[in-house]
Amino acid sequence: MKKITIAIDGFSSTGKSTIAKQLAKKLNYVYVDTGAMYRAVALFALNNGFISEKGVDIVKLIEKLPTIDLSFKRNETSGNADMYLNGENVEKEIRTLRVSNVVSTVAAISEVRKKLVEQQQIMGAEKGVVMDGRDIGTVVFPDAELKLFMTASAEKRAFRRYKELLDGGESVVFEDVLKNVQNRDHIDSTREDSPLLQAPDAIEFDNSDMGLEEQFERIYNFALRIIEA
Ligand code: DC
Repeated sequence: MKKITIAIDGFSSTGKSTIAKQLAKKLNYVYVDTGAMYRAVALFALNNGFISEKGVDIVKLIEKLPTIDLSFKRNETSGNADMYLNGENVEKEIRTLRVSNVVSTVAAISEVRKKLVEQQQIMGAEKGVVMDGRDIGTVVFPDAELKLFMTASAEKRAFRRYKELLDGGESVVFEDVLKNVQNRDHIDSTREDSPLLQAPDAIEFDNSDMGLEEQFERIYNFALRIIEA
């Protein structure tokens, strides 16, 4: 069967990764969560003291970029791929609000993007990949056969993230999560390098009022139509 590239972009907490994971599993494709890679770089910057109230020490972070090794390894318990930063499993830490609060600023740095985009292009070179992020259909794989652009209201998205954080044991206030979602939307869509944009050939998918099953069925059918064409 023909293998294709599936690019899923959109605002934060639109459920991109849930759909992407399901799709990859069903099609027996590789799933790449590119947001996890930006989160891991943000964690590296935090842990090395490159982020203060004054902002990110861009010069120091760029200087240390070659020492950052990012990889995904399968977690036998969850069946998903965990993010590793320089050999250490950081899957849980990268999802905390501490990282979410700074990741968009780190992801706006061109040198960071260049390094991660190159790695993502290598990971998807053989096709048979479902990649989710912000610039997959526009920059990483502009020739992807299937491009989706996921949207949902900021409140719905913040509520989903809030529940995830609570379930993960973090004590958070809904308003803080909403502020973080709105702030990241703003930074991600207005940054100079590869802003979050809907590719002209992407299918827009508003899932504010759609259950997971219905979303999956529709998207899986889009994919099948292309694969079987
Ligand atoms: O998908 P996420 O919320 O885990 O992404 C974390 C941050 O990384 C998000 O604020 C924007 C950035 N990002 C990006 O700029 N480009 C990508 N391809 C993926 C994520």
